[in-house]
Amino acid sequence: MKITMIGAGYVGLVSGVCFSDFGHDVICVDKDTAKIEALEAGRMPIYEPGLQQIVAENVRDGRLAFSTDLAESVRDRDVIFIAVGTPSRRGDGHADLSYVLDAARQIAEHVTGFTVIVTKSTVPVGTGDEVERIMREANPSADIAVVSNPEFLREGAAIDDFKRPDRIVIGLEDDRARPVMSEVYRPLYLNHSPLLFTARRTSELIKYAGNAFLAMKITYINEIADLCEKVGANVQEVARGIGLDGRIGAKFLHAGPGYGGSCFPKDTLALVKTAQDYESPIRLIETTIAVNDTRKRAMGRKVIAAAGGDVRGRKVAILGLTFKPNTDDMRDSPSITIIQALQDAGALITAYDPEGMDNARKLLEDVTYADSPYVAAQDADALVIVTEWNEFRALNLARLKAAMRTPLFVDMRNVYQVSEVTRHGFSYVGVGRAGG
Ligand code: UDX
Repeated sequence: MKITMIGAGYVGLVSGVCFSDFGHDVICVDKDTAKIEALEAGRMPIYEPGLQQIVAENVRDGRLAFSTDLAESVRDRDVIFIAVGTPSRRGDGHADLSYVLDAARQIAEHVTGFTVIVTKSTVPVGTGDEVERIMREANPSADIAVVSNPEFLREGAAIDDFKRPDRIVIGLEDDRARPVMSEVYRPLYLNHSPLLFTARRTSELIKYAGNAFLAMKITYINEIADLCEKVGANVQEVARGIGLDGRIGAKFLHAGPGYGGSCFPKDTLALVKTAQDYESPIRLIETTIAVNDTRKRAMGRKVIAAAGGDVRGRKVAILGLTFKPNTDDMRDSPSITIIQALQDAGALITAYDPEGMDNARKLLEDVTYADSPYVAAQDADALVIVTEWNEFRALNLARLKAAMRTPLFVDMRNVYQVSEVTRHGFSYVGVGRAGG
């Protein structure tokens, strides 16, 4: 298959590169010249384990190319994916579709022969209809079928998720697209990943309904964690106890500082807005958003309370800034709100993150960045794990204790057992575990 991917952001780049790895002929297009030049030189614009190597192999074998020329790259292709950004629109929280619709218009003007147009960007219900309308308006003779194919990959595990998905959802209205999409995903289908064909609007809603459900699941266990602290229960055991029920499932039941990232905050908001527009409000998700927002600041207060109620002039070391491990993504990371809450209370912040510090510098003011957890902990009055990077799972606790002024250890991801930390002379505070 000859595939063009419009948008070499997270989803577009990973998907395009993986399609080339399946053996398809792929061009990844982006209007950002610097990004395309970097990719051509073998430099990745994002941190994602394994990506660089797959890019190098497929470029070498002639299956993968990069371009800034959309017009040239959409001629004579079988499938064109639109994977440009859909940020939250300022002011009203709706997904901003201007990049998607611009791309659709440009594709329509240059496309030749029967071409399947696929929206991979996360787009509200009805966007496929709008993309089709705009394309037909821009070029009434274009022979196209517009398909929805949402992406479910997680940052940090994106390549693995792409190659071993739980399911592939394909929403279409024109049956000519079905064999084409089956061919695109043939290697996964042969590998027993189910291909779910639905109507286009259904497919668009599946993406939002799925992400909102996961955000709600996390928020639920976070609220249970708060209750655990009050009643003297352990949230990790509660999560295990309920997660073993196959109807609930064990995943996404890790209590923590609240969800962040490029998807859950944006997608929950967009779903709520769509539901309100159609006068069918989804109150569970409205509440999920409100609870998660409140939680991040509450986590700042949790540190202050653990430090005895006053952090003025005290040094707090933050380990982990990105919204989750194995990414350099800082978008909507809980660390931002937590750090600001601590700074508002007068704390001095030193931070360390394995990959996120460059992006953090653009967002956070008055933070001192350290080049290791131990440097961050020097003379600190509290150490806070905000993101569970692997390298924080086996810290040298004796060395940390020796470096710190006050041995207070706040573990927002429950990475440690209480006893292994207290044994080294720390006071320890976890999440949802009474007494630590
Ligand atoms: C998510 C979805 O998982 C993916 O299917 C979708 O396509 C994009 O959005 P991503 O945002 O990359 O992926 O990360 P994910 O691993 O889902 O984590 C999202 C947030 O939830 C992170 O802040 C993470 O720390 C938090 N989280 C996740 C928890 O707090 N507890 C959990 O149990 C799981």
